[in-house]
Amino acid sequence: MSAEREPIGVIGVGWVGLVTAACFAELGHRVVARDIVAEKVEALSRGETTIHEPGLGELVRRNAERLTFTTEMDELLDVARILFVCVDTPPTRSGDADLSRVRSVIEELREDGDHVLAMKSTVPAGTGEAIRRDMPQLAYVSCPEFLKEGSAVEDFMQPDRVVIGADPGDESAGDAVAAIYEPLGGEIVRTDVASAEMIKLASNAFLATKISFVNEIANVCEEVGADVGEVARGMGLDQRIGPSFLRAGIGYGGSCFPKDVSALKMLAGNTGYHFQLLNAVIEVNELQKRRVVQKLRGHLGSLAGRRVVLLGLAFKPQTDDMREASSLVLAARLQGEGAEVVAYDPVATEVARDQLPGVEFYDSAMGALDGADAAVLVTEWPEFAELDWVAAVGRMARPLIVDGRNFLDPETLRAAGFEYEGIGRAGQGAPSTAAAD
Ligand SMILES: NC(=O)c1ccc[n+]([C@@H]2O[C@H](COP(=O)([O-])OP(=O)(O)OC[C@H]3O[C@@H](n4cnc5c(N)ncnc54)[C@H](O)[C@@H]3O)[C@@H](O)[C@H]2O)c1
Repeated sequence: MSAEREPIGVIGVGWVGLVTAACFAELGHRVVARDIVAEKVEALSRGETTIHEPGLGELVRRNAERLTFTTEMDELLDVARILFVCVDTPPTRSGDADLSRVRSVIEELREDGDHVLAMKSTVPAGTGEAIRRDMPQLAYVSCPEFLKEGSAVEDFMQPDRVVIGADPGDESAGDAVAAIYEPLGGEIVRTDVASAEMIKLASNAFLATKISFVNEIANVCEEVGADVGEVARGMGLDQRIGPSFLRAGIGYGGSCFPKDVSALKMLAGNTGYHFQLLNAVIEVNELQKRRVVQKLRGHLGSLAGRRVVLLGLAFKPQTDDMREASSLVLAARLQGEGAEVVAYDPVATEVARDQLPGVEFYDSAMGALDGADAAVLVTEWPEFAELDWVAAVGRMARPLIVDGRNFLDPETLRAAGFEYEGIGRAGQGAPSTAAAD
């Protein structure tokens, strides 16, 4: 790799920022990454990765010479012309995006006229224009991030597309950012800032819609005796539909979909447009998490005093991210029904501990299953597919499993002696009479 590549500044070293910093360093750039949390910066400077993301720790250590972490903005500004902003934009109480972290970064650059600000944080359409109006001397490029946690390094290095939005006057800044991404080989979509901002929000809202859609199809499948896996397979072969994000389960979570769907709904609402479809997407997702409780009740009756195991806690496998994880709602609902909730997750326990009061944590799936009345598969960690389910039957008080991700093989589980129920899977009971008419 060439050591001559453009030096880069990264502001905010969370999931997006750390992956961005490490990947650009891997591509040969000198990278200075800044965060306001001193402990995080110290840990990263010692070579300790602060999040669980496959391949990331190795990348950080391998590129230690090119990658510096700091709490000081000046250290970035001295070294780099292009600054990638990767700070968090969580939801406010009203459901809009909270732009306070973005604003504080912008305030620090108020006097600056020498740098290009590339916005990777997900912001509502119109944010870039407002920043440019306020600080016309700043070169501004919208560069939304599309990586998925759990495969973030791979997604960053092999992007489906890179979106770069620049308004007239900032075209050369857009060229400079595009040049940095060129070695990755993904298609580069050049557009204006507002459209780039909308591409990000619309993409996440569309994916969330696909998930809520297939979840509703799954619920109907349960009523009519169809199998949602078969339905999704048949649908997905239609090139206009495609196979991805057609996996039924207990709903989406994570740091992006819930807040971005809400932010788009609010963004539209703030302009006077009522985005009806997104209301349904959000509601279906909320109700879907709770269906597990109904399923357990269907088998066990009252859940009071029942010992229920959550297998997996993170919002998806290969991450320890607990933001908006379905397990949070599920644990609280089960506890609300009087159940005793125990849990096991291969990596997320430490992050989850403070967020799940009253839950008992185990360091193995088998340990958690001991004496349990039911298990719920919440996160599709590969190790659950390989668990010795025959042995598990003997350990549980009642071998009942609700597979919230349709991840396990029903035949294997039933052959092992389990009462198995998935989401919209065939063979889970007789179709309702209404459907039989
Ligand atoms: N996590 C994802 O999968 C993902 C994917 C695509 C886009 N995004 C978007 O990227 C943005 C960042 O997401 P994330 O998951 O990496 O967030 P995160 O919370 O993991 O990280 C944000 C980091 O920014 C730091 N920070 C806050 N204010 C700062 C400041 N003034 N200067 C320097 N650092 C500051 C925080 O301390 C934190 O370490 C969000 O807008 C998110 O919507 C996230």
